[in-house]
Amino acid sequence: MEIIIQSTYKQLATIASEIIRDALLKKPDLVLGLATGSTPIGLYKALVRMYKEDGLDFSSVTTFNLDEYVGIPCEHPQSYHTFMANHFFDHVNISMKNRHIPQNTAENHEAFCAAYEEAIARAGGIDIQVLGIGTDGHIGFNEVGSSLASRTRIVTLTESTLVANASHFEGDMSAVPEIAITMGIGTIMEAKQCLLLANGTSKSEAIAKAVEGPITSMVPASILQMHPNTVTIIDESAASDLKEVEYYKRSYANKLKLQSQ
Ligand code: GLP
Repeated sequence: MEIIIQSTYKQLATIASEIIRDALLKKPDLVLGLATGSTPIGLYKALVRMYKEDGLDFSSVTTFNLDEYVGIPCEHPQSYHTFMANHFFDHVNISMKNRHIPQNTAENHEAFCAAYEEAIARAGGIDIQVLGIGTDGHIGFNEVGSSLASRTRIVTLTESTLVANASHFEGDMSAVPEIAITMGIGTIMEAKQCLLLANGTSKSEAIAKAVEGPITSMVPASILQMHPNTVTIIDESAASDLKEVEYYKRSYANKLKLQSQ
């Protein structure tokens, strides 16, 4: 796993956006896996800027979001549909037909989940999957104990996730939907590249366990150690519990040195 440590949140967002921009310039019909939460907001902002100021073209891009709550309508201010519209989709030229977010209103969830997997396969698979991380190490809504081979499915959220996400529901934990649809860990692992983003000390323990701890379903992000192309981009605070910080910094500096030769 490649670990890139940056001093500020803005820098980590810039690096992530540059990886996506470079991939998009090489492959205009890029398939992006997208995440919600506060972590990727800076990345979306940077991509919107590239669209508006540099003419980066998203017209042939296809997107698949990781997850969505079940039990609130798409129009709900805290739905991930609303999040994506506000932070990204309303500001770039990704065609409506190419945007996919798990449907919180599907009548037959099982059929919907199977269809979501088929749609990803039909698009040729995900080229770059953006990931945040929960304080307990979850990715998407793959909570602790999720099968490391899981596919898109309905899940029940843990108390720790309900508490963390209550801040988006005016601090009212009982207002957070307990059920969600998420891409599985097996689905995520099939992405050609994963970008794991984290900032702040609240994520330092989860990052240390995911990057340097044993691979276990109790820390779902730890499976990324088995992914052949995961780039973990974090700030100094999120890196503060890692043992090998100096080594990661040296490795990245050498990579940049080689690139500039
Ligand atoms: C939720 C989302 C995850 C996200 C996590 C962390 O549980 N389903 O995809 O990574 O929250 O969110 P944040 O970036 O706000 O800390």
